[in-house]
Amino acid sequence: MAERSSFVVVANRLPVDEVTTPEGRQWRPSPGGLVTALHPVLVRERGTWIGWAGGTGDAPEPFELEGINIHPVPLSAQELERYYEGQSNATIWPLYHDAVETPAYKRSWRETYRAVNQRFAEAAAEVAAEGAVVWVQDYQLQLVPAMLRELRPDLKIGFFLHIPFPPIELFMQMPFRTEILRGLLGADLVGFQQRLAAQNFVRLARHLLGLRYEGQMIQVDGRQVKAGAFPISIDTAQMEQLAADPAIQARAKEIRGELGNPKTIILGVDRLDYTKGIELRLKAFRELLADGKLTVPDAVMVQVATPSRERVEHYQALRVKVEREVGRINGEFGRVGVPAVHYLHQSYSRSELAALYSAADVMMVTPLRDGMNLVAKEYVASRADTGGALVLSEFAGAATELRQAFLCNPHDPEGVKEVLLRAVNIEPAEARRRMRVMQRHLRTHDVEHWARSFLNELGVPEAA
Ligand code: ADP
Ligand code: F6P
Repeated sequence: MAERSSFVVVANRLPVDEVTTPEGRQWRPSPGGLVTALHPVLVRERGTWIGWAGGTGDAPEPFELEGINIHPVPLSAQELERYYEGQSNATIWPLYHDAVETPAYKRSWRETYRAVNQRFAEAAAEVAAEGAVVWVQDYQLQLVPAMLRELRPDLKIGFFLHIPFPPIELFMQMPFRTEILRGLLGADLVGFQQRLAAQNFVRLARHLLGLRYEGQMIQVDGRQVKAGAFPISIDTAQMEQLAADPAIQARAKEIRGELGNPKTIILGVDRLDYTKGIELRLKAFRELLADGKLTVPDAVMVQVATPSRERVEHYQALRVKVEREVGRINGEFGRVGVPAVHYLHQSYSRSELAALYSAADVMMVTPLRDGMNLVAKEYVASRADTGGALVLSEFAGAATELRQAFLCNPHDPEGVKEVLLRAVNIEPAEARRRMRVMQRHLRTHDVEHWARSFLNELGVPEAA
């Protein structure tokens, strides 16, 4: 039987990657803010992280890595298709992101989502010590809090949603809406990125189940469930340190050279996802080139688009559209050896990303809807020189905090173009002033602050 823990994290993915080394296949921690923030409390509490190890078929046996108990949960090929690609990423993901692409609803997906959530809940019930704290993460596991409470009423259960929570009229489309809401209400504390999302949730509880609430506290079956906003962040100090490293600065200079030392480098870094507004950003760049307001090679764009959810239809369609647009721009405005857009459908190391951030004069983060968008925060923290300008969609959670960015409405192409030009032509002193204010904010509001705020609210003493 696995070791019992007084602190358990339940997330779709484990914070580890399997890599091939000369000694054979090995696990190593995957870089990520969440695991960095929770590492101290996981180590102190002999904590366990429950999640999917990637791949299909049997899961590896539980193991320990750098003081954390890793508890893999298996997924079959059919479960991967129905629970992860289907219900999570073709139903819930688009619905919760304002239905910017049409959500698909399938009974078989829902049934598998239920079965897989039950498996995660059972794994948590098995490893949690008496009275333990269990923190469930994100939209893939919304049924787990209620399932776990049923199995283990002694536990303290927190849930955090990393993506937006939609308004009532959108949520009501979902065929098993009551079950999802009941699932979330199994937690003692339900955390969201934004205050508005928390409000959507408490109003929904009244609308759908007739539950009473006062402020953010909902009365459910004689219990109290608290909703609240806890905007997630990055490991700011680590990002600042990485970007300031002379090797990274040298690499940034090298990247500028490789791009032909243009006056302006415009950068986008996203998962290739239709919520991220990659197409509209490319279109804004193309129209500014066509209007003669920007010219190649003075201005070039670098778009990193990490492969993501590649078997889901909307993602396949997006890839075709983005690559067609990149081809069109380069065809019209590039020259031999001088493309207008450098498009990279690849994953990068943290160091290479930091060098790209450091090299970019303007960062474009233009989602149609995004729970937070950590890339925006990473760019700000990377600007050790306090240069650079951030163009940021009002529909990214980060816009609530990064008010000194160049905010834009991604649905308004003229507005995006105007804001992009302002960012390109910003005076260096003004750029520095804006960056400094945002950096100060991120130093106090880092991912550790996020984890501590949530766990304190949940009643975990001296959390994180
Ligand atoms: P999401 O969670 O929707 O993917 P975020 O912007 O909040 O969006 O977080 C994305 C994370 O993935 C960031 O930490 C970013 O540095 C990382 N990332 C994005 N693109 C790449 C890439 N090509 N290679 C490696 N990491 C990436
Ligand atoms: O932030 C939302 C999220 O789905 C996370 O849960 C996840 O780690 C990240 O985006 C990447 O998505 P996926 O796990 O589907 O590759």
